[in-house]
Amino acid sequence: MNTKFKERLLIMASLTVILGNSPLLSEAQDTSGIYHEEYRPQVHFSPKAHWVNDPNGMVYFKGTYHLFFQDYPKGTTWGPMHWGHAISKDLMHWKELPIALYPDSLGYIFSGSAVIDSNNTSGFGKNGKIPLVAIFTHHDPQLEKAGKENYQNESLAYSLDDGYTWTKYAGNPVLKNPGLRDFRDPKVMWYVKGKKWIMTLATKDHITFYSSPDLKNWKKESEFGKDLGAHGGVWECPDLFPLKLNEKTYWVLIVNLNPGGPNGGSATQYFIGDFDGTTFSPNDGKTRWLDYGTDEYAGVTWNNTGNRRIFLGWMSNWQYANQVPTKGWRNAMTIPRELTLFKEKDGLYVRSLPVKEINAIELKKPQDHRPELPKALPGQYLIKLKTKRLADYSIILSNSANEKLIIGFDKVKDQYFIDRTKSGRTDFSGNFPSIAYAPRLSDVNNSEMLLLVDRSSVELFADDGRTVMTSIVFPAKPYNHIDLKLVKIIQLIPLYGIW
Ligand code: FRU
Repeated sequence: MNTKFKERLLIMASLTVILGNSPLLSEAQDTSGIYHEEYRPQVHFSPKAHWVNDPNGMVYFKGTYHLFFQDYPKGTTWGPMHWGHAISKDLMHWKELPIALYPDSLGYIFSGSAVIDSNNTSGFGKNGKIPLVAIFTHHDPQLEKAGKENYQNESLAYSLDDGYTWTKYAGNPVLKNPGLRDFRDPKVMWYVKGKKWIMTLATKDHITFYSSPDLKNWKKESEFGKDLGAHGGVWECPDLFPLKLNEKTYWVLIVNLNPGGPNGGSATQYFIGDFDGTTFSPNDGKTRWLDYGTDEYAGVTWNNTGNRRIFLGWMSNWQYANQVPTKGWRNAMTIPRELTLFKEKDGLYVRSLPVKEINAIELKKPQDHRPELPKALPGQYLIKLKTKRLADYSIILSNSANEKLIIGFDKVKDQYFIDRTKSGRTDFSGNFPSIAYAPRLSDVNNSEMLLLVDRSSVELFADDGRTVMTSIVFPAKPYNHIDLKLVKIIQLIPLYGIW
């Protein structure tokens, strides 16, 4: 037996011990109660009940991360949209609060963003209270039904209690539709150099930038992207923000797209370039994808997080989001990810890695088990692997129901892949049983790869986050067995459930 093979066997043997015999990861799961239902993510945000799609209004204020989300509180499929609300101190543990915004006579509350209006430019502030302002799309279903074009308009709501309760502005809408069927998902930021607000808006097959001194009066600045990037579907949920690399500032423009993603359906593309307060100029014409998997969509970043840029996506795909086989609630968010820039031979790219706060839910040793947290359930863990460039390697996650999820690298194609064809339930949509592929963007040898497994999802951060893939799965039992081919595990870290 050659030594390499022996080494692999040893690793495999020890893994079986870790996953199979540990009382912390035993198959006896607590199936009672909310957040412990079949397929329920244990380290990702999912709503207590009912339907969720896009993350909205993400803003950090006074030590609290606010997460609003597209919410239909009366059912488990998409319906009249509200803004649900959750808060967190550490991006890991979430507390769901009452619904923040309800539909009204102007329509459903579609996606949008929230800002801290520190200078009270809007005038919403009273008695020295800093207003938080939400900018969202009002979608009027009646106008839509009547065949009109102008059923999406941009509106405001404000909060004078640090983001907990919200009042809609009496002068809504603040930005009227010019006659475009797709005119939505405003992401607003304060543009420091020009001392003005910039709104990045998805307008069908391009982005339109608007500016405002007070969030109420908006002026068109420019358009971007009609002839650039991927156009297999409608442009939605954009984001614009600066990122530094070696002291130089670049601007990243995120544009979500549905359908037309690299593995079908919804996905997040981005551009890197410069923004001068009026125009976005990309460095090149290349299409870049933030996540090549099938299940990250509508991802945007938190406002007001200083030098950190923290991204969150919806962990599903419009191809089957309404059909996934969960009961009581439907869909979840990705793990929050920190974005940074990296350079390759052919230009700059964005790298994503889980935020460092994930370390706080690592269940390192049994004696670390904190009594105030629920006992860790099987099926949520982080795997750190060392990978070599020139090998066909794979990681096979499986369970006692003979279901398996294969994550690997194909050296001939120079591609990563996630094969979920035999991963568990796949029969609810013809689009679901698939093999997703992603190019390797990095040339680095012996890089580290991170896999985050959480009962019904896997997120692959290959080459230290240079290629990312997210995939949801519906195994009958959590995957508690791992087989490795030509790859070495550095660490396997069980995680505390957050609920
Ligand atoms: C993206 C999206 C947005 C829209 C929202 C409606 O998933 O279609 O463009 O605002 O969902 O729920």
